[in-house]
Amino acid sequence: AATKKYQFDIQVKNVSRLCHAKPIVTVNGRFPGPTIYVREGDRVLVNVTNHAQYNMSIHWHGLKQYRNGWADGPAYVTQCPIQTGSSYTYGFNVTGQRGTLWWHAHILWLRATVHGAIVIMPKQGTPFPFPQPDRETEILLGEWWHIDVEEVEKQGNKNGLPPNTSDAHTINGKPGPLFPCSEKHTFAMEVEQGKTYLLRIINAALNDELFFGIAGHNLTVVEVDAVYTKPFTTQSILIAPGQTTNVLLKANQVPGRYFMAARPFLDVPLSVDNKTATGIVQYRGIPNTVLPVLPQLPNPNDTKFALSYNKKLRSLDSQQFPANVPLKVDRNLFYTVGFGKDPCPTCVNGTRLVASLNNISFEMPKIGLLQAHYFNIKGVYRTDFPDRPQTTFNYTGAPLTANLGTLTGTRLSKLAFNSTVELVLQDTNLLTVESHPFHLHGYNFFVVGTGIGNFDPAKDPAKYNLVDPIERNTVGVPTGGWTAIRFRADNPGVWFMHCHLELHTGWGLKTAFVVEDGSGSDQTVMPPPKDLPPC
Ligand code: C2O
Repeated sequence: AATKKYQFDIQVKNVSRLCHAKPIVTVNGRFPGPTIYVREGDRVLVNVTNHAQYNMSIHWHGLKQYRNGWADGPAYVTQCPIQTGSSYTYGFNVTGQRGTLWWHAHILWLRATVHGAIVIMPKQGTPFPFPQPDRETEILLGEWWHIDVEEVEKQGNKNGLPPNTSDAHTINGKPGPLFPCSEKHTFAMEVEQGKTYLLRIINAALNDELFFGIAGHNLTVVEVDAVYTKPFTTQSILIAPGQTTNVLLKANQVPGRYFMAARPFLDVPLSVDNKTATGIVQYRGIPNTVLPVLPQLPNPNDTKFALSYNKKLRSLDSQQFPANVPLKVDRNLFYTVGFGKDPCPTCVNGTRLVASLNNISFEMPKIGLLQAHYFNIKGVYRTDFPDRPQTTFNYTGAPLTANLGTLTGTRLSKLAFNSTVELVLQDTNLLTVESHPFHLHGYNFFVVGTGIGNFDPAKDPAKYNLVDPIERNTVGVPTGGWTAIRFRADNPGVWFMHCHLELHTGWGLKTAFVVEDGSGSDQTVMPPPKDLPPC
Protein backbone atom coordinates (compact mmCIF):
# COMPACT_ATOMS: atom_id res chain seq x y z
CA ALA A 1 0.00 0.00 0.00
CA ALA A 2 1.15 3.51 -0.78
CA THR A 3 0.49 6.96 0.62
CA LYS A 4 -1.00 9.31 -1.98
CA LYS A 5 -0.70 13.04 -1.34
CA TYR A 6 -2.82 15.76 -2.88
CA GLN A 7 -2.82 19.54 -2.53
CA PHE A 8 -6.26 21.18 -2.85
CA ASP A 9 -6.12 24.97 -3.12
CA ILE A 10 -9.56 26.51 -2.75
CA GLN A 11 -9.59 29.38 -5.23
CA VAL A 12 -12.12 31.62 -6.86
CA LYS A 13 -11.93 31.62 -10.64
CA ASN A 14 -13.86 33.34 -13.42
CA VAL A 15 -15.60 30.81 -15.61
CA SER A 16 -17.82 31.48 -18.59
CA ARG A 17 -20.82 29.34 -19.53
CA LEU A 18 -24.04 30.06 -21.45
CA CYS A 19 -22.72 33.44 -22.68
CA HIS A 20 -21.99 34.77 -19.16
CA ALA A 21 -18.88 34.79 -17.01
CA LYS A 22 -19.04 34.56 -13.22
CA PRO A 23 -16.64 33.81 -10.39
CA ILE A 24 -16.94 30.30 -8.99
CA VAL A 25 -15.23 28.51 -6.12
CA THR A 26 -12.88 25.78 -7.38
CA VAL A 27 -10.16 23.38 -6.30
CA ASN A 28 -6.87 24.34 -7.99
CA GLY A 29 -8.79 26.54 -10.46
CA ARG A 30 -10.43 23.49 -12.03
CA PHE A 31 -14.09 22.73 -12.65
CA PRO A 32 -14.86 19.91 -12.10
CA GLY A 33 -11.98 19.46 -9.65
CA PRO A 34 -9.08 17.00 -9.84
CA THR A 35 -9.65 13.25 -9.66
CA ILE A 36 -8.19 11.33 -6.72
CA TYR A 37 -6.66 8.07 -8.00
CA VAL A 38 -5.89 5.45 -5.40
CA ARG A 39 -5.67 1.73 -4.97
CA GLU A 40 -7.60 -0.24 -2.39
CA GLY A 41 -5.48 -0.30 0.76
CA ASP A 42 -3.75 3.06 0.13
CA ARG A 43 -3.52 5.91 2.60
CA VAL A 44 -4.60 9.31 1.29
CA LEU A 45 -3.52 12.73 2.55
CA VAL A 46 -5.30 15.73 1.07
CA ASN A 47 -4.11 19.09 2.27
CA VAL A 48 -6.88 21.63 1.75
CA THR A 49 -5.80 25.27 1.85
CA ASN A 50 -8.58 27.81 1.72
CA HIS A 51 -7.76 30.98 -0.27
CA ALA A 52 -11.43 31.89 -0.86
CA GLN A 53 -13.70 34.23 1.12
CA TYR A 54 -15.98 31.31 2.00
CA ASN A 55 -15.60 28.79 4.77
CA MET A 56 -14.79 25.38 3.35
CA SER A 57 -15.13 21.72 4.22
CA ILE A 58 -14.70 18.68 1.97
CA HIS A 59 -16.55 15.36 2.20
CA TRP A 60 -15.24 12.10 0.67
CA HIS A 61 -18.64 10.78 -0.30
CA GLY A 62 -18.96 7.03 0.23
CA LEU A 63 -15.63 6.42 1.95
CA LYS A 64 -16.39 4.67 5.20
CA GLN A 65 -13.75 6.45 7.32
CA TYR A 66 -13.66 3.65 9.85
CA ARG A 67 -13.26 5.16 13.39
CA ASN A 68 -12.11 8.28 11.58
CA GLY A 69 -15.05 10.67 11.33
CA TRP A 70 -12.54 13.54 11.64
CA ALA A 71 -11.83 13.08 7.93
CA ASP A 72 -15.47 12.79 6.86
CA GLY A 73 -15.99 16.50 6.29
CA PRO A 74 -19.60 17.69 6.74
CA ALA A 75 -19.38 21.14 8.33
CA TYR A 76 -20.62 21.29 11.93
CA VAL A 77 -21.11 17.51 11.95
CA THR A 78 -17.56 16.16 12.06
CA GLN A 79 -15.57 19.39 11.99
CA CYS A 80 -15.79 23.15 12.02
CA PRO A 81 -15.07 24.73 8.62
CA ILE A 82 -11.63 25.54 7.26
CA GLN A 83 -11.53 29.33 7.54
CA THR A 84 -10.16 31.63 4.87
CA GLY A 85 -6.35 31.47 5.03
CA SER A 86 -6.28 28.16 6.92
CA SER A 87 -5.44 24.57 6.01
CA TYR A 88 -6.51 21.13 7.11
CA THR A 89 -5.15 17.76 5.99
CA TYR A 90 -7.74 15.04 5.53
CA GLY A 91 -5.98 11.74 6.23
CA PHE A 92 -7.72 8.41 5.64
CA ASN A 93 -7.20 4.80 4.61
CA VAL A 94 -9.12 3.31 1.73
CA THR A 95 -9.95 -0.11 3.11
CA GLY A 96 -12.31 -2.75 1.78
CA GLN A 97 -13.67 -0.56 -1.00
CA ARG A 98 -12.96 -0.28 -4.71
CA GLY A 99 -14.79 1.51 -7.50
CA THR A 100 -16.00 5.05 -8.12
CA LEU A 101 -16.85 7.53 -5.41
CA TRP A 102 -16.50 11.30 -5.32
CA TRP A 103 -15.59 14.24 -3.15
CA HIS A 104 -17.46 17.51 -2.71
CA ALA A 105 -17.71 20.63 -0.57
CA HIS A 106 -20.03 19.95 2.37
CA ILE A 107 -20.96 23.49 3.36
CA LEU A 108 -23.57 25.87 1.93
CA TRP A 109 -24.26 25.09 -1.76
CA LEU A 110 -20.59 25.21 -2.69
CA ARG A 111 -20.56 21.63 -3.91
CA ALA A 112 -22.15 22.98 -7.12
CA THR A 113 -18.63 23.72 -8.35
CA VAL A 114 -16.37 22.17 -5.70
CA HIS A 115 -16.45 18.47 -6.56
CA GLY A 116 -14.47 15.73 -8.29
CA ALA A 117 -14.14 11.98 -8.78
CA ILE A 118 -12.48 9.41 -6.54
CA VAL A 119 -11.27 6.35 -8.44
CA ILE A 120 -10.28 3.37 -6.30
CA MET A 121 -8.55 0.67 -8.32
CA PRO A 122 -8.75 -2.89 -6.98
CA LYS A 123 -5.67 -4.27 -5.22
CA GLN A 124 -2.73 -5.04 -7.49
CA GLY A 125 -3.32 -8.32 -9.29
CA THR A 126 -7.06 -8.36 -8.58
CA PRO A 127 -8.99 -8.00 -11.83
CA PHE A 128 -12.43 -6.45 -12.16
CA PRO A 129 -15.18 -9.09 -11.97
CA PHE A 130 -16.29 -8.03 -15.47
CA PRO A 131 -14.57 -7.87 -18.89
CA GLN A 132 -11.44 -5.75 -18.64
CA PRO A 133 -12.13 -2.37 -20.33
CA ASP A 134 -9.62 -0.96 -22.82
CA ARG A 135 -9.99 2.59 -21.47
CA GLU A 136 -11.94 4.45 -18.84
CA THR A 137 -13.24 7.93 -18.25
CA GLU A 138 -15.10 9.86 -15.55
CA ILE A 139 -18.41 11.51 -16.34
CA LEU A 140 -19.55 14.04 -13.76
CA LEU A 141 -23.09 15.29 -14.19
CA GLY A 142 -23.88 18.68 -12.70
CA GLU A 143 -25.97 21.83 -12.73
CA TRP A 144 -25.14 25.40 -13.67
CA TRP A 145 -26.82 28.66 -12.67
CA HIS A 146 -26.29 32.07 -14.29
CA ILE A 147 -26.17 33.67 -10.87
CA ASP A 148 -23.97 32.84 -7.92
CA VAL A 149 -25.08 29.59 -6.24
CA GLU A 150 -25.02 31.27 -2.85
CA GLU A 151 -27.57 33.77 -4.19
CA VAL A 152 -29.73 30.85 -5.31
CA GLU A 153 -29.46 29.32 -1.85
CA LYS A 154 -30.53 32.60 -0.23
CA GLN A 155 -33.56 32.98 -2.53
CA GLY A 156 -35.06 29.93 -0.89
CA ASN A 157 -34.67 31.33 2.60
CA LYS A 158 -35.80 34.84 1.77
CA ASN A 159 -39.00 33.99 -0.08
CA GLY A 160 -39.93 30.85 1.75
CA LEU A 161 -40.38 29.30 -1.71
CA PRO A 162 -38.16 27.09 -3.82
CA PRO A 163 -35.43 29.10 -5.60
CA ASN A 164 -34.71 29.08 -9.34
CA THR A 165 -34.01 25.78 -10.96
CA SER A 166 -30.62 25.62 -12.65
CA ASP A 167 -30.08 27.17 -16.08
CA ALA A 168 -28.32 24.11 -17.47
CA HIS A 169 -27.26 20.60 -16.72
CA THR A 170 -23.65 19.78 -17.43
CA ILE A 171 -21.40 16.85 -18.36
CA ASN A 172 -17.91 17.32 -16.91
CA GLY A 173 -18.79 20.96 -16.33
CA LYS A 174 -20.00 21.54 -19.90
CA PRO A 175 -23.61 21.97 -21.00
CA GLY A 176 -23.09 20.98 -24.64
CA PRO A 177 -24.26 22.45 -27.96
CA LEU A 178 -28.02 22.53 -27.22
CA PHE A 179 -27.34 25.59 -25.03
CA PRO A 180 -26.41 29.07 -26.27
CA CYS A 181 -22.69 29.90 -26.61
CA SER A 182 -21.86 26.31 -25.62
CA GLU A 183 -20.41 24.81 -28.80
CA LYS A 184 -16.95 25.06 -27.26
CA HIS A 185 -18.23 23.92 -23.88
CA THR A 186 -18.98 20.37 -24.97
CA PHE A 187 -17.49 17.24 -23.48
CA ALA A 188 -16.30 14.84 -26.17
CA MET A 189 -14.77 11.39 -25.95
CA GLU A 190 -13.15 9.60 -28.85
CA VAL A 191 -13.78 5.87 -29.17
CA GLU A 192 -12.28 3.19 -31.35
CA GLN A 193 -14.43 0.60 -33.09
CA GLY A 194 -14.54 -2.66 -31.13
CA LYS A 195 -13.06 -1.29 -27.90
CA THR A 196 -14.73 -1.33 -24.48
CA TYR A 197 -14.87 1.72 -22.22
CA LEU A 198 -15.58 1.94 -18.52
CA LEU A 199 -17.59 5.08 -17.75
CA ARG A 200 -17.49 6.20 -14.15
CA ILE A 201 -20.67 8.26 -13.91
CA ILE A 202 -21.23 10.55 -10.93
CA ASN A 203 -24.32 12.64 -10.23
CA ALA A 204 -22.94 15.85 -8.73
CA ALA A 205 -26.12 17.85 -9.44
CA LEU A 206 -27.55 19.75 -6.50
CA ASN A 207 -31.21 19.01 -6.92
CA ASP A 208 -31.89 16.72 -9.87
CA GLU A 209 -32.12 13.01 -10.29
CA LEU A 210 -30.97 12.33 -13.86
CA PHE A 211 -31.42 9.94 -16.76
CA PHE A 212 -28.29 9.33 -18.79
CA GLY A 213 -27.81 7.47 -22.05
CA ILE A 214 -25.80 7.34 -25.29
CA ALA A 215 -27.53 7.26 -28.67
CA GLY A 216 -27.47 3.87 -30.40
CA HIS A 217 -25.49 2.18 -27.63
CA ASN A 218 -26.35 -0.06 -24.72
CA LEU A 219 -24.75 0.41 -21.34
CA THR A 220 -23.88 -2.49 -19.04
CA VAL A 221 -24.16 -1.55 -15.38
CA VAL A 222 -21.39 -3.24 -13.35
CA GLU A 223 -21.09 -1.19 -10.17
CA VAL A 224 -22.89 1.45 -8.12
CA ASP A 225 -21.55 3.45 -5.17
CA ALA A 226 -18.29 1.44 -5.29
CA VAL A 227 -20.08 -1.92 -4.95
CA TYR A 228 -20.05 -4.49 -7.77
CA THR A 229 -23.45 -5.40 -9.18
CA LYS A 230 -24.83 -8.29 -11.18
CA PRO A 231 -24.24 -6.89 -14.66
CA PHE A 232 -27.29 -5.87 -16.69
CA THR A 233 -27.75 -4.04 -19.94
CA THR A 234 -29.89 -0.96 -20.39
CA GLN A 235 -30.38 1.93 -22.79
CA SER A 236 -30.47 4.52 -20.01
CA ILE A 237 -29.46 4.71 -16.39
CA LEU A 238 -31.12 6.64 -13.58
CA ILE A 239 -28.81 8.29 -11.08
CA ALA A 240 -29.66 10.43 -8.05
CA PRO A 241 -27.51 13.21 -6.58
CA GLY A 242 -24.76 11.54 -4.56
CA GLN A 243 -24.85 8.26 -6.44
CA THR A 244 -22.20 6.82 -8.75
CA THR A 245 -22.70 4.22 -11.51
CA ASN A 246 -20.04 2.38 -13.48
CA VAL A 247 -21.09 1.15 -16.90
CA LEU A 248 -19.33 -0.59 -19.77
CA LEU A 249 -19.75 0.98 -23.19
CA LYS A 250 -18.84 -1.08 -26.22
CA ALA A 251 -18.01 0.92 -29.36
CA ASN A 252 -19.79 -1.53 -31.63
CA GLN A 253 -22.04 0.67 -33.78
CA VAL A 254 -21.63 2.21 -37.23
CA PRO A 255 -18.71 4.61 -36.78
CA GLY A 256 -20.14 8.10 -36.38
CA ARG A 257 -20.92 10.77 -33.83
CA TYR A 258 -23.41 10.04 -31.07
CA PHE A 259 -24.74 12.28 -28.34
CA MET A 260 -24.59 11.25 -24.72
CA ALA A 261 -27.29 13.09 -22.80
CA ALA A 262 -28.49 13.75 -19.27
CA ARG A 263 -31.78 15.26 -18.18
CA PRO A 264 -33.90 15.12 -15.01
CA PHE A 265 -36.35 12.52 -13.86
CA LEU A 266 -39.22 14.67 -12.62
CA ASP A 267 -42.04 13.12 -10.76
CA VAL A 268 -43.12 16.48 -9.44
CA PRO A 269 -45.71 17.83 -11.83
CA LEU A 270 -45.03 21.44 -10.79
CA SER A 271 -41.57 21.49 -12.22
CA VAL A 272 -40.70 22.37 -15.79
CA ASP A 273 -36.98 21.82 -15.47
CA ASN A 274 -36.15 19.72 -18.51
CA LYS A 275 -32.85 21.10 -19.73
CA THR A 276 -30.81 18.44 -21.48
CA ALA A 277 -27.02 18.37 -21.22
CA THR A 278 -25.21 16.69 -24.09
CA GLY A 279 -21.71 15.44 -24.82
CA ILE A 280 -20.31 13.62 -27.83
CA VAL A 281 -19.05 10.08 -28.40
CA GLN A 282 -17.01 10.28 -31.56
CA TYR A 283 -15.59 7.28 -33.40
CA ARG A 284 -11.97 7.71 -34.46
CA GLY A 285 -11.63 9.07 -37.98
CA ILE A 286 -15.12 10.57 -38.18
CA PRO A 287 -15.04 14.28 -39.04
CA ASN A 288 -16.65 16.88 -36.78
CA THR A 289 -19.02 17.83 -39.59
CA VAL A 290 -21.14 14.66 -39.16
CA LEU A 291 -24.29 15.55 -37.21
CA PRO A 292 -24.63 13.62 -33.94
CA VAL A 293 -27.67 11.51 -33.10
CA LEU A 294 -29.65 12.19 -29.88
CA PRO A 295 -30.40 9.30 -27.51
CA GLN A 296 -33.94 8.42 -26.50
CA LEU A 297 -34.14 8.94 -22.79
CA PRO A 298 -37.18 7.92 -20.74
CA ASN A 299 -39.86 10.60 -20.42
CA PRO A 300 -39.24 13.01 -17.54
CA ASN A 301 -42.08 11.47 -15.49
CA ASP A 302 -41.41 7.83 -16.36
CA THR A 303 -41.86 6.41 -12.86
CA LYS A 304 -42.28 2.93 -14.32
CA PHE A 305 -38.79 3.05 -15.77
CA ALA A 306 -37.44 4.29 -12.44
CA LEU A 307 -39.02 1.44 -10.49
CA SER A 308 -37.97 -1.29 -12.91
CA TYR A 309 -34.44 0.13 -13.25
CA ASN A 310 -33.94 0.17 -9.50
CA LYS A 311 -35.27 -3.39 -9.26
CA LYS A 312 -32.53 -4.60 -11.59
CA LEU A 313 -29.83 -3.38 -9.24
CA ARG A 314 -28.49 -6.35 -7.27
CA SER A 315 -25.24 -6.89 -5.44
CA LEU A 316 -22.81 -9.14 -7.31
CA ASP A 317 -22.80 -11.40 -4.24
CA SER A 318 -19.95 -13.60 -5.49
CA GLN A 319 -17.68 -15.78 -3.40
CA GLN A 320 -15.09 -13.01 -3.45
CA PHE A 321 -17.60 -10.22 -2.80
CA PRO A 322 -20.42 -11.69 -0.72
CA ALA A 323 -23.40 -9.58 0.31
CA ASN A 324 -23.40 -9.78 4.10
CA VAL A 325 -26.97 -8.69 4.72
CA PRO A 326 -27.93 -8.53 8.41
CA LEU A 327 -30.62 -11.20 8.77
CA LYS A 328 -31.60 -10.38 12.33
CA VAL A 329 -32.50 -6.82 13.34
CA ASP A 330 -31.69 -5.37 16.79
CA ARG A 331 -33.27 -1.97 16.21
CA ASN A 332 -36.22 -1.06 14.03
CA LEU A 333 -36.51 2.56 12.94
CA PHE A 334 -39.32 4.15 10.94
CA TYR A 335 -38.85 7.74 9.72
CA THR A 336 -41.40 9.74 7.77
CA VAL A 337 -40.05 12.12 5.15
CA GLY A 338 -42.13 15.23 4.78
CA PHE A 339 -42.57 18.93 4.31
CA GLY A 340 -44.23 21.54 6.43
CA LYS A 341 -44.64 25.31 6.66
CA ASP A 342 -43.18 27.29 9.50
CA PRO A 343 -43.91 30.90 10.44
CA CYS A 344 -41.29 33.23 8.96
CA PRO A 345 -41.94 36.93 9.62
CA THR A 346 -39.21 38.03 7.17
CA CYS A 347 -40.45 35.80 4.32
CA VAL A 348 -42.66 37.11 1.52
CA ASN A 349 -45.62 34.89 2.43
CA GLY A 350 -45.05 34.93 6.17
CA THR A 351 -44.18 31.24 6.07
CA ARG A 352 -41.26 29.21 4.84
CA LEU A 353 -40.99 25.64 3.72
CA VAL A 354 -39.35 23.23 6.09
CA ALA A 355 -38.56 19.57 5.59
CA SER A 356 -38.50 16.99 8.32
CA LEU A 357 -37.97 13.42 9.42
CA ASN A 358 -40.64 12.26 11.87
CA ASN A 359 -41.78 15.90 11.85
CA ILE A 360 -38.45 17.10 13.19
CA SER A 361 -36.59 19.64 11.11
CA PHE A 362 -32.89 19.45 11.90
CA GLU A 363 -31.06 22.50 13.18
CA MET A 364 -27.33 22.71 12.58
CA PRO A 365 -25.24 23.18 15.73
CA LYS A 366 -22.54 25.85 16.12
CA ILE A 367 -19.76 23.36 16.82
CA GLY A 368 -19.06 19.92 15.36
CA LEU A 369 -21.31 17.13 16.64
CA LEU A 370 -18.37 14.71 16.62
CA GLN A 371 -16.35 17.04 18.85
CA ALA A 372 -19.29 17.33 21.22
CA HIS A 373 -19.55 13.54 21.31
CA TYR A 374 -15.82 12.84 21.65
CA PHE A 375 -15.09 15.53 24.25
CA ASN A 376 -18.42 15.06 25.98
CA ILE A 377 -19.54 18.67 25.54
CA LYS A 378 -23.10 19.01 26.83
CA GLY A 379 -25.90 21.05 25.33
CA VAL A 380 -24.91 20.69 21.66
CA TYR A 381 -27.33 17.93 20.71
CA ARG A 382 -29.87 15.58 22.21
CA THR A 383 -30.10 11.84 21.55
CA ASP A 384 -33.88 11.58 21.74
CA PHE A 385 -34.70 11.41 18.05
CA PRO A 386 -37.88 9.27 18.02
CA ASP A 387 -37.65 5.76 16.54
CA ARG A 388 -41.04 6.26 14.91
CA PRO A 389 -43.42 9.14 14.17
CA GLN A 390 -45.39 10.69 17.03
CA THR A 391 -48.64 10.35 15.14
CA THR A 392 -49.53 7.76 12.57
CA PHE A 393 -51.65 8.80 9.62
CA ASN A 394 -52.27 7.73 6.04
CA TYR A 395 -48.82 8.84 4.88
CA THR A 396 -49.48 8.55 1.18
CA GLY A 397 -53.19 9.30 1.21
CA ALA A 398 -54.88 12.51 0.16
CA PRO A 399 -52.48 15.46 0.33
CA LEU A 400 -52.62 17.21 3.67
CA THR A 401 -52.04 20.91 3.74
CA ALA A 402 -51.87 21.34 7.49
CA ASN A 403 -48.49 21.57 9.06
CA LEU A 404 -48.41 18.45 11.18
CA GLY A 405 -46.53 20.20 13.92
CA THR A 406 -42.96 20.41 12.70
CA LEU A 407 -40.52 20.73 15.57
CA THR A 408 -37.01 21.99 15.14
CA GLY A 409 -34.03 20.68 17.02
CA THR A 410 -30.61 19.08 16.92
CA ARG A 411 -31.86 15.63 17.77
CA LEU A 412 -29.87 12.48 17.04
CA SER A 413 -30.39 8.77 17.51
CA LYS A 414 -27.93 6.67 19.48
CA LEU A 415 -26.99 3.24 18.15
CA ALA A 416 -25.22 0.52 20.13
CA PHE A 417 -21.89 -0.58 18.68
CA ASN A 418 -22.27 -3.48 16.26
CA SER A 419 -26.06 -3.55 16.54
CA THR A 420 -28.02 -4.28 13.39
CA VAL A 421 -30.41 -1.56 12.29
CA GLU A 422 -33.36 -1.52 9.93
CA LEU A 423 -34.57 1.89 8.84
CA VAL A 424 -37.75 2.36 6.83
CA LEU A 425 -37.95 5.76 5.16
CA GLN A 426 -41.58 6.57 4.38
CA ASP A 427 -42.41 9.39 1.99
CA THR A 428 -45.51 11.43 2.85
CA ASN A 429 -47.95 13.53 0.92
CA LEU A 430 -47.54 16.70 2.95
CA LEU A 431 -47.75 19.67 0.56
CA THR A 432 -46.09 17.85 -2.30
CA VAL A 433 -44.65 14.55 -3.28
CA GLU A 434 -41.08 14.13 -4.31
CA SER A 435 -38.52 11.36 -4.37
CA HIS A 436 -35.61 11.84 -2.02
CA PRO A 437 -32.12 10.39 -2.37
CA PHE A 438 -30.99 9.61 1.19
CA HIS A 439 -27.29 9.40 1.96
CA LEU A 440 -25.79 7.91 5.10
CA HIS A 441 -22.23 8.89 5.97
CA GLY A 442 -19.73 6.34 7.34
CA TYR A 443 -21.60 3.31 6.01
CA ASN A 444 -22.93 1.34 3.13
CA PHE A 445 -26.35 -0.18 3.65
CA PHE A 446 -28.42 -2.85 1.96
CA VAL A 447 -31.64 -1.81 0.26
CA VAL A 448 -33.78 -4.77 1.34
CA GLY A 449 -37.14 -3.51 0.15
CA THR A 450 -39.04 -0.70 -1.48
CA GLY A 451 -42.65 -0.10 -2.44
CA ILE A 452 -45.36 2.38 -3.32
CA GLY A 453 -47.92 3.48 -0.72
CA ASN A 454 -47.67 2.95 3.02
CA PHE A 455 -45.16 0.48 4.42
CA ASP A 456 -47.01 -2.47 5.94
CA PRO A 457 -45.00 -3.98 8.82
CA ALA A 458 -47.18 -7.10 8.75
CA LYS A 459 -46.71 -7.92 5.07
CA ASP A 460 -43.81 -6.08 3.48
CA PRO A 461 -40.86 -7.58 5.38
CA ALA A 462 -41.83 -11.03 4.04
CA LYS A 463 -41.05 -9.70 0.56
CA TYR A 464 -37.58 -8.37 1.40
CA ASN A 465 -34.58 -9.43 -0.62
CA LEU A 466 -32.12 -10.68 2.01
CA VAL A 467 -29.96 -12.56 -0.49
CA ASP A 468 -28.45 -10.11 -2.97
CA PRO A 469 -29.98 -6.66 -2.33
CA ILE A 470 -28.01 -3.73 -3.67
CA GLU A 471 -25.50 -2.30 -1.23
CA ARG A 472 -24.90 1.43 -1.53
CA ASN A 473 -24.52 4.73 0.32
CA THR A 474 -27.35 6.76 -1.28
CA VAL A 475 -30.82 5.48 -2.09
CA GLY A 476 -33.98 7.03 -3.49
CA VAL A 477 -37.13 7.01 -1.41
CA PRO A 478 -39.79 6.83 -4.12
CA THR A 479 -42.50 9.44 -4.41
CA GLY A 480 -45.46 8.29 -2.35
CA GLY A 481 -43.60 5.16 -1.28
CA TRP A 482 -41.01 3.73 1.07
CA THR A 483 -37.56 2.20 1.15
CA ALA A 484 -36.14 -0.15 3.79
CA ILE A 485 -32.41 -0.33 4.46
CA ARG A 486 -30.29 -2.43 6.81
CA PHE A 487 -26.80 -1.93 8.16
CA ARG A 488 -24.57 -3.02 11.01
CA ALA A 489 -23.55 -0.11 13.25
CA ASP A 490 -19.89 -1.12 13.42
CA ASN A 491 -18.30 2.27 12.73
CA PRO A 492 -18.19 4.36 15.91
CA GLY A 493 -18.66 8.13 15.63
CA VAL A 494 -21.27 10.64 14.57
CA TRP A 495 -22.63 10.07 11.08
CA PHE A 496 -24.80 12.42 9.13
CA MET A 497 -27.84 11.19 7.19
CA HIS A 498 -29.63 13.51 4.82
CA CYS A 499 -31.51 13.99 1.60
CA HIS A 500 -28.88 14.70 -1.06
CA LEU A 501 -31.10 17.30 -2.73
CA GLU A 502 -29.34 20.40 -1.45
CA LEU A 503 -32.60 22.32 -1.28
CA HIS A 504 -34.13 19.76 1.06
CA THR A 505 -31.03 19.43 3.22
CA GLY A 506 -31.17 23.19 3.71
CA TRP A 507 -34.80 22.94 4.76
CA GLY A 508 -33.87 20.46 7.51
CA LEU A 509 -34.24 17.02 5.90
CA LYS A 510 -31.39 15.52 7.87
CA THR A 511 -30.35 13.96 11.16
CA ALA A 512 -27.35 12.04 12.48
CA PHE A 513 -26.58 8.80 14.26
CA VAL A 514 -24.28 8.60 17.26
CA VAL A 515 -22.72 5.16 17.07
CA GLU A 516 -21.23 4.27 20.43
CA ASP A 517 -17.73 2.90 20.89
CA GLY A 518 -17.24 -0.84 21.20
CA SER A 519 -15.35 -2.37 24.12
CA GLY A 520 -12.21 -3.23 22.12
CA SER A 521 -9.39 -0.71 21.87
CA ASP A 522 -9.76 -0.87 18.08
CA GLN A 523 -13.50 -0.17 18.30
CA THR A 524 -13.36 3.43 19.46
CA VAL A 525 -13.26 6.77 17.67
CA MET A 526 -9.62 7.65 16.99
CA PRO A 527 -8.22 10.81 18.56
CA PRO A 528 -8.66 13.93 16.38
CA PRO A 529 -5.75 15.14 14.24
CA LYS A 530 -3.80 18.14 15.59
CA ASP A 531 -4.76 20.45 12.71
CA LEU A 532 -8.52 19.83 12.98
CA PRO A 533 -10.08 23.28 12.37
CA PRO A 534 -11.00 24.92 15.68
CA CYS A 535 -14.61 25.89 16.33
CU1 C2O B 1 -22.45 13.66 -0.63
CU2 C2O B 1 -23.46 14.51 3.22
O1 C2O B 1 -22.97 14.15 1.26
